[in-house]
Amino acid sequence: MRKLVVFYSLEGNTRLVANTIARAAGADILELVPEKELSARGFTRYLWGGKSVLMREKPALKPLAIDPSQYDMFFLGTPVWAWSIAPPLSTFLSRYSFSGKPVALFCCHGGGPGKVFRKMREAVPGGVFLGEIDLQEPRTNDTEPQLESARKWVGTILSKL
Ligand SMILES: Cc1cc2nc3c(=O)[nH]c(=O)nc-3n(C[C@H](O)[C@H](O)[C@H](O)COP(=O)(O)O)c2cc1C
Repeated sequence: MRKLVVFYSLEGNTRLVANTIARAAGADILELVPEKELSARGFTRYLWGGKSVLMREKPALKPLAIDPSQYDMFFLGTPVWAWSIAPPLSTFLSRYSFSGKPVALFCCHGGGPGKVFRKMREAVPGGVFLGEIDLQEPRTNDTEPQLESARKWVGTILSKL
């Protein structure tokens, strides 16, 4: 079974988790990069990012380095923005069908996952959901214990395949 980790990350937390999951799962990895990236510094990113979520924007992505249709199982990851999915992942989810395919969800946040997993499940109609995990700022907060819990989570996900 070919496994793919797909994620977007503005500030590196979700990238760190995505790399950890990919290594633990023996999966390939695909990072989504918007054509126009938000500046990762300063308070205005919250305003622009929050507005982008509320306006349900689907920002254009740079060409994908990997063809997702070649894979059988997916880990999908996003930072939580305005309690929801970061728009670059929304773009990706609107473009591909995961109907009937096993899917596991992960997110990084500053305080809580909000409604992100419900939104992700809605954005992946027909997906066979195996589980989900959220981590709080793992780059700077309890890094190793949080990554270890992600590795253990991968084990439980793979045992369901
Ligand atoms: C535009 C924007 C909106 C955010 N909204 C939330 C939120 O609603 N809830 C929350 O807990 N964290 C929120 N955060 C914090 C991020 O989810 C958190 O820092 C996450 O670890 C960032 O992941 P990344 O480093 O992969 O980009 C927001 C961050 C940004 C930039």
